[in-house]
Amino acid sequence: MGSLFLILMVTIATAVASPIKNQIHLLMPHSGSGGHKHSDLNCLSWRLAVETNNLQDWTQVPQACADYVGHYMLGKQYRQDCDAVAAEAYKYAEGLNLTGDGKDVWVFDVDETTLSNLPYYASDAVAFGAIPYNATAFDLWVAEAAAPAIPGSLQLYKKLINLGFKIVFLTGTKEAFKEPRIKNLITVGYTQWEKLILKGDDDHGNAVEYKSSKRKELVDGGYKIRGNMGDQWSDLLGSNPGDRTFKVPDPMYYIG
Ligand SMILES: *[C@@H]1O[C@H](CO)[C@@H](O)[C@H](O)[C@H]1NC(C)=O
Ligand SMILES: *[C@@H]1O[C@H](CO)[C@@H](O)[C@H](O)[C@H]1NC(C)=O
Ligand SMILES: [Mg+2]
Repeated sequence: MGSLFLILMVTIATAVASPIKNQIHLLMPHSGSGGHKHSDLNCLSWRLAVETNNLQDWTQVPQACADYVGHYMLGKQYRQDCDAVAAEAYKYAEGLNLTGDGKDVWVFDVDETTLSNLPYYASDAVAFGAIPYNATAFDLWVAEAAAPAIPGSLQLYKKLINLGFKIVFLTGTKEAFKEPRIKNLITVGYTQWEKLILKGDDDHGNAVEYKSSKRKELVDGGYKIRGNMGDQWSDLLGSNPGDRTFKVPDPMYYIG
């Protein structure tokens, strides 16, 4: 304890004494004897690339990052990151001047935005997305209607309703799962909504096209999309994205 304190003090003293030198040190080029930066996959860099949508169309979590993603998802950081998004969204929402005509809507995606499939993704057969997606197995899980709520999103949902927003759930889940989805949402506390839009047999196109066309229908119906929250960039890109979008973290899978 004493020596740790001493090290800390020395570190702080050094940092205070030469702040600029330390900053520059961080930006020094990494060159080994061969002049090359080592090529280890840095999983935090990978996750940042995923969250910023710099990395696209990836099909599974890199093998080397399965443990990293698992620790992130099961540890405090994921929950705190979700809470931070919800807090920013609420700060924005409470500053809005709603029209009071019942047309101010907040769009929520469902999977990994309002409901969490973490119990499924944490299983050995899925390994947090490091094992290729199995649609059959995932559908069986959805049919169980056993997904817990993402706590920050559930709190935000309740506060938005109190502020006077109408809630629209817009999900890529197929119509066939409407009943288990409704059961699941209600069970965990999402008890009311203006619309629950699932993907029908007539809905074509990729996720961006599908969600854009559904948002266009909302806007054509007189709704004002004041906020839009999703875990995938395809929830937030395209036409009529909403006045402001909020991205919740998801390093387990990519939907383009
Ligand atoms: C809020 O909106 C209403 C209706 O559009 C408007 O009359 C009012 O001035 C607005 N209030 C503020 C503080 O912007
Ligand atoms: C996908 O999941 C189903 C249902 O659990 C299982 O029967 C099947 O073997 C799995 N397929 C693969 C390729 O793992
Ligand atoms: Mg989602």
